[in-house]
Amino acid sequence: MKKNRDARGPFVHELILNRDRVSSFDTYPYSLPPIRSLSRLKLHPQVTFFIGENGSGKSTLLEAVAVAAKLNAEGGSQNFNFATRASHSDLSEYLTLVRGASRPSDSFFLRAESFFNVATAVEGYAVSGYGERSLHEQSHGESFMALALHRFRQGGLYILDEPEAALSPQRQLALISRMHQLILQGCQFIIATHSPILMAYPNASILEFSANGIQPMEYRNTEHYQVTKTFLDDPERMLALLMSS
Ligand SMILES: Nc1ncnc2c1ncn2[C@@H]1O[C@H](COP(=O)(O)OP(=O)(O)OP(=O)(O)O)[C@@H](O)[C@H]1O
Ligand SMILES: [Mg+2]
Repeated sequence: MKKNRDARGPFVHELILNRDRVSSFDTYPYSLPPIRSLSRLKLHPQVTFFIGENGSGKSTLLEAVAVAAKLNAEGGSQNFNFATRASHSDLSEYLTLVRGASRPSDSFFLRAESFFNVATAVEGYAVSGYGERSLHEQSHGESFMALALHRFRQGGLYILDEPEAALSPQRQLALISRMHQLILQGCQFIIATHSPILMAYPNASILEFSANGIQPMEYRNTEHYQVTKTFLDDPERMLALLMSS
């Protein structure tokens, strides 16, 4: 992706799975219901959330989008070229990204489980822009916020897998605020999340991955919102139900 000072999202409008080139829908990742039924998927110009049960296929698709956008499958930016596992699927080879007129001026793919590797690579590359302290000397959440505050910048495409894994509720609110700033500066985000806080961001589409494929969903209809709300409205009641024999 070329540097473009006037970069403005949306950078990726839509994903197309070239189904006729897939040899079998019986094996991973093509056998996962959301991929099996995928032909075209429209993304929101600012924020698209992938939600759904554990194992529903969010990371699989997110990673394939990141690879198709030429980001490192382990997480990181285009400049990072490190790999501690080569297990990402070949789904990206069958995906076409329908791109907008401008190219992102920056991009980053963050997997929660490989953030340590990204921090190591950042030190290896001795890049500036991550705040004053080494990312390894900061806590998981501190270093993630340093990345979002100091490294993410205007006109960027950011693909994040469960960014909430590192963050306290307060920091999740701070991330919404930082995302909003970046969105006003032309950024686009694609985020897999289980966080009922993050997915409340209003200028977004929520896509639920399930046995029925991938469906748009209203925030208050999500299981994440409903389960969290029911629990917090009356924790003792739900705990009594959960702990009754
Ligand atoms: N390399 C692989 N080979 C075979 N199956 C795999 C492979 N990687 C993942 N899977 C399976 O594919 C399914 C989808 O995995 P994926 O990581 O995309 O789920 P997810 O929606 O991101 O879940 P979570 O919310 O727990 O992160 C899971 O059942 C997983 O076990
Ligand atoms: Mg996942």
